[in-house]
Amino acid sequence: MTRRTLSDAPLLDAAAGRTPDRTPVWFMRQAGRSLPEYRKVREGISMLDSCFMPELLAEITMQPVRRHDVDAAILFSDIVVPLKAAGVGVEIVPGRGPVMDRAIRTRADIDALPILDHEVDEVAEGIRLILGELTDRQALIGFVGAPFTLASYLVEGGPSKNHQTTKAMMHAEPETWHALMERLVPTIITFLRTQIDAGIDAMQLFDSWAGFLTEADYREFVLPYSIRILQEINGVGIPRIHFGVGTGELLGAMSEAGSEVMGVDWRVPLDRAAERIHAASGPKVLQGNLDPAMLFAGRDAVTREVARIKAEAARAIDNGDATGHIFNLGHGVLPDTPAEAITEAVAIIHGED
Ligand code: CP3
Repeated sequence: MTRRTLSDAPLLDAAAGRTPDRTPVWFMRQAGRSLPEYRKVREGISMLDSCFMPELLAEITMQPVRRHDVDAAILFSDIVVPLKAAGVGVEIVPGRGPVMDRAIRTRADIDALPILDHEVDEVAEGIRLILGELTDRQALIGFVGAPFTLASYLVEGGPSKNHQTTKAMMHAEPETWHALMERLVPTIITFLRTQIDAGIDAMQLFDSWAGFLTEADYREFVLPYSIRILQEINGVGIPRIHFGVGTGELLGAMSEAGSEVMGVDWRVPLDRAAERIHAASGPKVLQGNLDPAMLFAGRDAVTREVARIKAEAARAIDNGDATGHIFNLGHGVLPDTPAEAITEAVAIIHGED
């Protein structure tokens, strides 16, 4: 396929270090339960089934773009979709998250873990439908889960508060851990390839739970694999975004994985985040970082917080610590966020209020 060339998309301008004509904004988890139209079309269809239905996944991806005037669509999918496509037994339990049929704990479990060895046609078809609907000012962001976050679901068998079995594997049986990483990386890359070949305009590597690790553990057990995933698409020419929650102490190390854009959660002011990123790997574009809880706090609070975040990003850019800013939340939209509060926040961020 020939990738779209979007010369007028604010998100791609910002990601490339150019000055966009408005502050680009999208929200992690902008598709989903905050929208009544999402709840309606998902009725009676399981989360993972919906990710393999091209028309439905395209419709859900487009819903927040139509409603909120965000500058990007994020592909409606899940970090466990490539595992499911490879034949791993996994379901997403509402209110909990991904749950595996069986946890992956031993070397034999790892050797038996299926590897995704084909492109995922349903997702590719969904992406083509989305690209047919987006304007040339709206980017489509694809994504994959990063090795630590994905491994945690596999090793724990489901969502985990402390990730202790995963950390125990790293430290008690490092060879087993590295074998798991080696087994996961090809699946992640194949799913990313599916999205790239189908025409996504940008991608995000979600290492949501990496913030649970010390920097030393992150560097030894995770970073080499994230580097490999991002390097795999070096020459493609689409911007790469890298994000995790609670990663204030890891921003430098994570920035060394090689993305153009670093997502920052709400705990760290963007100018301070930029100093850490600059010191480790040079100035990059920042993405973030409104606390998702602020969408419950009313217009005045959102206006104040948006102004603060924009000022911190501007300071980082003035100081030479960053090369641009894409507005986002510091993590995903909370499920019961009023849809109207999201639309209002986007307008405030765009400066239309
Ligand atoms: O709008 C978007 O951001 C795109 C959709 C998206 C989903 N999952 C849809 C989804 C994205 C980017 C993801 C990635 C994902 N999945 C991550 C990384 C992002 C992050 O939030 O840090 C993680 C950790 C997962 C695993 C996962 N899947 C969790 C923790 C949950 C929530 C469980 C729940 O019910 O609260 C899911 C399910 C999920 N993924 C939902 C959605 C819209 C909710 C399912 C539903 O609507 O029934």
